[in-house]
Amino acid sequence: MADTTLKFPHKIEDLDPETNAEISRNFSGGLNHLVQVGPQKMLIPSEFSDECDNYYNFKFRKGDVIVVGYPRSGTTMTQEMVWLMLNNFDLKKALDTSLIVRVPLLEARSLTTKETIAAVNATNQGAEKLRLYRSSIEILRANPGRRVIKTHLHFNFLPPDLLNCGCKIIYVARNPKDVVVSLYHLQRTSQGRQYTGDISTFLDYFVSDLTLFAPYWAHLSQGWERRHSPNVHFIFYEDFIQNRRHHIKTIADFINQKLTTEQVELLEDTLEFSHFKKYMSRGVDRDMNTRQDVNDDFIRKGEIGGWKEYFTEEMNQKMDKWVKENVARIGIEFPLEF
Ligand code: A3P
Repeated sequence: MADTTLKFPHKIEDLDPETNAEISRNFSGGLNHLVQVGPQKMLIPSEFSDECDNYYNFKFRKGDVIVVGYPRSGTTMTQEMVWLMLNNFDLKKALDTSLIVRVPLLEARSLTTKETIAAVNATNQGAEKLRLYRSSIEILRANPGRRVIKTHLHFNFLPPDLLNCGCKIIYVARNPKDVVVSLYHLQRTSQGRQYTGDISTFLDYFVSDLTLFAPYWAHLSQGWERRHSPNVHFIFYEDFIQNRRHHIKTIADFINQKLTTEQVELLEDTLEFSHFKKYMSRGVDRDMNTRQDVNDDFIRKGEIGGWKEYFTEEMNQKMDKWVKENVARIGIEFPLEF
């Protein structure tokens, strides 16, 4: 049989060593060799080079639901909601089985560098979780049912036939001011590569496209451009949390799941932020933040406009300029001013 494997068509180039060294200085480790991928120069550890063909050729199937978004845009609540819809609201299984296994992150292996693996193994904690995390592709291939798959990859690094293979894609977007604050807090808790710098430096990285999966705007614009495709459902975090009931129903319709009124109510209640935080703390994923010395939960605050607590006037002006330029360029319409 002819080999139909496609070659990953994009350039992968080392980030310039000086910039990489500057970033590494602000992390406890694990980001020593970053690469930039494709015309938009998506930033990711160099491990991506070993796996990009696997992502580009991944066999998505009819019935799969794929949750796509820039990190910290609300992808976890979305994946949990969809998993429950497709798994008969099996709350026991949801709490007993990690999201790593129920909704694998396609590119997980590319995010675990030699240094992060060594750091996790040195603590004797989380080694099994890490092994599962790194096995995302094998776990997905072995699942014969309707799969829920998460990815932060930009669309042009996923299979070219993605929109026509019968799967459903939910793209989640969130305003960049709340994204950068949320990402800053997350990176402070990363085992083996903890961010040790200040928030203002982190914001500089974000607006210079030097955070993982950046550029934020390239990610967003690829989702926005595809929003009218029949197999794509584009949703803003802000819209969702302001009217969960409506969006739960719309998403259920989009993935062809009929929900009873009780099921809609159950989801609405479970996904309310304080309930969701409690819900996650009851399950096996309760310790997503493995650093006891940093008090930041993975399910953290769930606010719209929480950035105001963190930005100085200077940071805000920098962001506003960046947002204005890019919104005009892309033509995206956010639901709320920020
Ligand atoms: P904050 O850090 O601002 O609180 P992702 O899952 O894509 O990494 O996004 C994480 C962000 O979504 C975090 O933002 C997290 O608290 C928030 N979040 C998670 N579950 C939520 C829910 N049920 N309602 C509102 N926000 C939620």
